Amino acid sequence: MTVRILSTSPLVGPAIQNLGARFPELTLAPFRSIAWKMNLAQAEALIGLLTESLSERDLDLAPRLKVIGTYSVGVNHLPVEACERRGIRIVNTPGVLTEATADLALTLLLALTRRLKEGELLARSGHWKGWAPDQLLGTGLAGKTCGILGSGATGKAFARRVWALGMKPLFWDRENKGTPVDFGAGLARRLPLAELLPRASVLSLHCPLTPETRGLLSRPLLELLPKGGFIINTARGGILDEDAAIQLLHIGHLGGAGLDVYEDEPDINSAWLKAPRTVLLPHLGSATLETREAMSDLLCDGIAETLEGKLG
Ligand code: DGY
Repeated sequence: MTVRILSTSPLVGPAIQNLGARFPELTLAPFRSIAWKMNLAQAEALIGLLTESLSERDLDLAPRLKVIGTYSVGVNHLPVEACERRGIRIVNTPGVLTEATADLALTLLLALTRRLKEGELLARSGHWKGWAPDQLLGTGLAGKTCGILGSGATGKAFARRVWALGMKPLFWDRENKGTPVDFGAGLARRLPLAELLPRASVLSLHCPLTPETRGLLSRPLLELLPKGGFIINTARGGILDEDAAIQLLHIGHLGGAGLDVYEDEPDINSAWLKAPRTVLLPHLGSATLETREAMSDLLCDGIAETLEGKLG
């Protein structure tokens, strides 16, 4: 049978079954399995996950390819420039995971600053002696400044959340236009990193991983954060110099780190597991049923539109 759409995963929700009803030439095959490799030459559309990196060599083996759909907003695992050169459309899932990701960033921030993990352990330990004036004191957020890297939809959604907590958001972005960012609940200044970091009691990452942002948060920049500052990363691990952040946690310069993403995930640098004042999650930013179904819808619609010649 001819294979027009080759997907590595059934995705969440009914969208991919519906796509299969429109295009019976849809085949599921695990990434880089023999079946996947055998069908690559015929495929006009590939559907894959953010954990499945493609290279230009894969494109060479897929001469009929018109579209690559990724079940993610991030496209750092794809050969974007090579696709552009070859006229291959990339369909990703912007917009629909904005609120879920911002919610998770806020969850990490509150878990860290209110010492949720230690409190839960104490409550379950059988050793809790009762309320005490200085027990598990955390860090208040109201009145403090939150630096946000990236002024896209998720950065703005996170700004609305910290604004509601009484924090003052400040933005950095790659355009560095100098104009304020309208984040939907007010205007916030956009500053160069050297000016933003020393003000930021909390720094949250919401920019894509690109050649420009890889390794952006190096040790010298992290040292510009005020002592006791918190870092939240729900974007991509490669933006943060993980070794530097871990060292700064050990010496107490950083007050805590809440991470959902890692440079070499699913491998987590073992030093993170020993680092103090961390909350570590396994890339759950978009992991709500509603979000994952919406991602499936967007992705499958984009594939269908391309194959039906309505776009691309
Ligand atoms: C994405 O879609 O890029 C997110 O990282 C998934 O949570």
